[in-house]
Amino acid sequence: MPGPAQTLLRPGAVECAKIGVFLPEFLRETGPNMSQQLIIFDTTMRDGEQSPGASMTREEKVRIGRQLERLRVDVMEAGFPAASPGDFEAVKAVASVIRDSTVCALARAQENDIRRAGEAIAPAASGRIHTFIATSPIHMEKKLRMTPEQVMEAAIRAVTLARTYTDDVEFSCEDAVRSDPDFMCRIIEAVIDAGARTINIPDTVGYAIPFQYGALIESLIKRIPNAHRAIFSVHCHNDLGLAVSNSLAAVLSGARQVECTVNGLGERAGNAALEEIVMAIRTRHDVFNVDTRIDTTQIVPVSRLVSTITGFPVQPNKAVVGANAFAHESGIHQDGVLKHRETYEIMRAEDVGWNANKLVLGKHSGRSAFKARLKELGIELDSEVAVNTAFQRFKELADKKHEIFDEDLHAIVSEELTEPQNEHYGLISLMAHSETGELPQARLVVSVGGEECATQSHGSGPVDATFKAIEKVVNSGASLQLYSVNNITSGTESQGEVTVRLARGGRIVNGLGADTDIVVASAKAYLSALNKLDVRVERMSPQL
Ligand code: KIV
Ligand code: ZN
Repeated sequence: MPGPAQTLLRPGAVECAKIGVFLPEFLRETGPNMSQQLIIFDTTMRDGEQSPGASMTREEKVRIGRQLERLRVDVMEAGFPAASPGDFEAVKAVASVIRDSTVCALARAQENDIRRAGEAIAPAASGRIHTFIATSPIHMEKKLRMTPEQVMEAAIRAVTLARTYTDDVEFSCEDAVRSDPDFMCRIIEAVIDAGARTINIPDTVGYAIPFQYGALIESLIKRIPNAHRAIFSVHCHNDLGLAVSNSLAAVLSGARQVECTVNGLGERAGNAALEEIVMAIRTRHDVFNVDTRIDTTQIVPVSRLVSTITGFPVQPNKAVVGANAFAHESGIHQDGVLKHRETYEIMRAEDVGWNANKLVLGKHSGRSAFKARLKELGIELDSEVAVNTAFQRFKELADKKHEIFDEDLHAIVSEELTEPQNEHYGLISLMAHSETGELPQARLVVSVGGEECATQSHGSGPVDATFKAIEKVVNSGASLQLYSVNNITSGTESQGEVTVRLARGGRIVNGLGADTDIVVASAKAYLSALNKLDVRVERMSPQL
């Protein structure tokens, strides 16, 4: 039986074998709304990583990549290989393990960037190079110091070179929304002729308004003579809180790829949130008339994983993935939902993966059951020593907490992966005391470069006392930017997951800690942030 996209396939349309989407040869003949397949391009590991403190290690990217594959994104942008040797290795590692999604690497329209991107995606089953250059007058003049003609030549050269590595090349006009549409028509026509298959029109600075952005997409598709040879894509930033609305307006105007991130993570105010785009498209199919390949039941698990790894908590009232997204507080609403769910619910919580966190293991589970569940979750620890340490942590947790959920396993493994054996700072023991009418205090033993140091302090609460005690020995000079606690699963015996964001000398890092005791979790998170501050990872931002 042909799927919905196949029923619309016209002679001359080209199948993208790996991802089952079709280049819309027919867009021009039948109108922009007739292609039913919407490509979901996830950029959590690239644009999402550009959020302050959200940088991910190679292992973390592989874990997120595996979960995105389970979510069935069509394309995942795994990083910017020219940014650093670490990011090159991370993209390559993701490209080596992902089989059911296209793995994409970002490159400026420069030879070295494109070669690095091409080499990084070489192991991919399906690999894409995404190259970009700014086209707005302000960016060309003030940032690039190039004339429009030089920008045009660089773009054509970049796409031509990228095509020597892969047939799947995407080109973006950075700051498209503030660019001259006539110039964009010329440059886009030229890069399609040079071999770009996807044309991305980013709202880099989050300036667009939905009806104008939709009109821009429609007019580009209509005006560019060879537009039917490419998929038009959108990429919206959320500076005015309009990223999702703008992306959806563009879909109505013929865009057939949306670039987005899990939890809306991303540069400044973030990118369009994947979960909101996907659920809007699905819930209002009557309006959009397009389908995605996404397995929506994987949305909450991927949201949790990204939040755990990056240390960016999800606000409770966040659409789809916030803890309160399906909670009905008022009596009238509760009564209505009990009588008939659809009175107040437009989506079902289970359809987006709420309550999907199966009870997996308990205190009597053995090492092989533990290992097997990690495998099912797509988690691979690279040595038997790492498995043993994680298993040990699991046993300790199972003693305190009877039911161990997938989220608990992710938290255990995150700690294991983010805190390898030879970290400079570590927690050995902690005693915190709080009593009404008394000044809270904390006593700790921490290891500093392998040496044990005892320290203590008072504070306004046990957490404050703990941080002050750590600073007495460490004297980091860092400032605390954020402290947040979330429970990983529900109930008071659940593990608390703490995020600590520290800043020093222009660098921002997030540390994470999890424990059933939130003071212990806080100490671990603080020490983890200090460890990250000490590691200098020189990275370049693609937009500099
Ligand atoms: O926002 C932007 O313009 C980008 C490009 C690199 C696509 O992230
Ligand atoms: Zn962006």
